[in-house]
Amino acid sequence: MRVFVSAPLPGDAVDVLQRHAEVVVGETGVGVRGASFLEGAPHFDAALTLLTDRVDGELLRRCPRLRLVANMAVGVDNVDVAACREAGVLVTNTPDVLTEATADLAFGLLLATARRIAEGDRDIRAGHFPPWTPTTMLGTRVFGGALGLIGFGRIGQAMARRARGFGMHVAYTQRTRHPESLERATGASYLPLDALVAEADFVSLHCPLTDETKQLLSAARLARMKRGAIIVNTARGGCVDEGALIAALESGHLGGAGLDVFADEPRVPARLVALPNVVLTPHVASADRTTREAMARLAAENVAAFVQGLPLRTPVP
Ligand code: GLV
Repeated sequence: MRVFVSAPLPGDAVDVLQRHAEVVVGETGVGVRGASFLEGAPHFDAALTLLTDRVDGELLRRCPRLRLVANMAVGVDNVDVAACREAGVLVTNTPDVLTEATADLAFGLLLATARRIAEGDRDIRAGHFPPWTPTTMLGTRVFGGALGLIGFGRIGQAMARRARGFGMHVAYTQRTRHPESLERATGASYLPLDALVAEADFVSLHCPLTDETKQLLSAARLARMKRGAIIVNTARGGCVDEGALIAALESGHLGGAGLDVFADEPRVPARLVALPNVVLTPHVASADRTTREAMARLAAENVAAFVQGLPLRTPVP
């Protein structure tokens, strides 16, 4: 069988695959838009894709033999799963292995934004050490604050565990409320979305991007948030109305934002970059070495299972 791998991968994932199939590794930063993919497309039986690869009907038409898309990400919003299903193409993702890394970065962004860490770093690098005064660089208190989590799956719950260490009051919202036993175990209480955004000092997103969650944090919901509240987004930029978020930050209604994801990556609006109370990272929430090696390996194991006719490790339903 022939397998396309979108880019060189960390760890031993490509070695694992080469034991089972003929492997073509694409060019970094180009993936399914590159020559290696386009030339080999009619012959690939499986593709190990990245979240920067758009897998849609057009791509599927180029690949008549394709039967598996193993996405190296937990999110599959870059894959038209319905079109894959229709074309008889299986889809897998990489859940679990990136839970803790993603929550680490989300909590890091929360702290960095609240306590103005990036701003202080920029000042010192620019040769400006602000005078120590009782009011220099006052930020937002994290300890004991109210954290609202939008989405309370594995990553949301990992965020709640971190927040507990900071004495935070945690509420969550999602389509289906969890059983009381899980709420007790995580110390998180359920709130409907509109109440959650109105009561939180910090709102952190941990939901997938779907038709239902597109611009879930709309202009109206952003307007309901407390003055000075902080938003953290390590989910997908499309879950927030980015224009309305920028306006709310510019007006001073929101206190800040820690953003790892953007509506139209890799484009980051200049108005966002111009804001001092925003901490920006380039979609790297899962980017610790251990996690990325585990993600690559899990994606490769899905491909290897498919090639051998074994059950897939982590199929997307
Ligand atoms: C990263 O954004 C992922 O979905 O894994």
